[in-house]
Amino acid sequence: MIPLVKTSLPPKEILIHKLEEVLYSGYIAQGEAVEIFERKFEEYIGIGHTLSLNSGTAALHIALILAGVKDGDEVISTALTAEPTNVAIKMTGAKIRWADIDYNTGNISPDSIEENINAKTKAIIVVDYAGIPVDVKRIQEISEKYNITVIEDAAHALGAKFNGKKTGNHFPFTVFSFQAIKHLTTIDGGALQILDKKLYEKGKLIRWFGLDKKLTRMENNIQLQGYKYHMNNVNATIGIVQLEYIEGLINKHVENGKYFDKHLKNIDGIELIQYYPNTEPSYWLYTLKVENRDGFTKMMADNGVMASELHKRNDLHTFLNDTQAYLPNLDKFHAKMVHIPCGWWLSNQDRQIIVEDIKKGW
Ligand SMILES: Cc1ncc(COP(=O)(O)O)c(C=O)c1O
Repeated sequence: MIPLVKTSLPPKEILIHKLEEVLYSGYIAQGEAVEIFERKFEEYIGIGHTLSLNSGTAALHIALILAGVKDGDEVISTALTAEPTNVAIKMTGAKIRWADIDYNTGNISPDSIEENINAKTKAIIVVDYAGIPVDVKRIQEISEKYNITVIEDAAHALGAKFNGKKTGNHFPFTVFSFQAIKHLTTIDGGALQILDKKLYEKGKLIRWFGLDKKLTRMENNIQLQGYKYHMNNVNATIGIVQLEYIEGLINKHVENGKYFDKHLKNIDGIELIQYYPNTEPSYWLYTLKVENRDGFTKMMADNGVMASELHKRNDLHTFLNDTQAYLPNLDKFHAKMVHIPCGWWLSNQDRQIIVEDIKKGW
């Protein structure tokens, strides 16, 4: 069965050597390797400061804290995402206010964001779902008009671009996940890309109990709530090696995605996702809207290819369903949504066969 997602690790002979070095170096906690990984990640993104962390969820939590989100506030978000996006909002005590999606793209609708803004709105989380960039331009305009901070959850969208610039360039906070099945894995891990240097320095305190690592314990004086969210040297070492291969890996996702864009056009029972102007997805998954989804996934499984919805719409979780949700576009979209594999593990022959199978119908 061709899987929907797959873990990518660097060649064994290269990674094992580096891992052995770090494991027996006597320093496996947060140290030099973490520093190197952060500076290399900054270079890869092209702007801002990288706060490496032990998960993307930690990155979401810190972003929300740095955006000033507190108990009693509201955060506008999308229900079409993995649960961590919205569970992180609940960690702050804030309520989730659901915005609808844009039926054409699956991403949060700028119009619906604007309709949902009220006096309690403290932040907006936007998700580049499945690797497809959000409507960056409109969301930037809304952020400026209402003076509300935007956090971009780019856990699915490392290397995706708007106006030629990668995710991480467009909003004050961008969240990345290095969990097992993402474009870049450090086994587990994450990063918060922060544009403002002062907030980055504050972020460093939050990730480490509120302690300043530049001072001794005796010199330290904790003044804010911190957590144990740091990345360690072992995960960072994997990240450093992974960065050597990331452009090539993402290019394979993009090539496969563009192949599907071209060859799955004009097929009965299929609607393709549209992309916003000047955006380039990094195609973590390939999302389709299909008639008779059960028939489609069965046909794909019969042909040895996994296809799935993958994510439950988050507003259906009792704990997350804070506010009345009238989400007609999500209702329509989610009834038809299915993901098919699109990643580096698909050969040219695999993708060709997938297209032929789909063209035969289901
Ligand atoms: C959209 C999205 N946001 C956030 C996360 C959280 O990342 P992590 O698993 O690294 O905490 C994930 C991954 O599961 C995700 O898919």
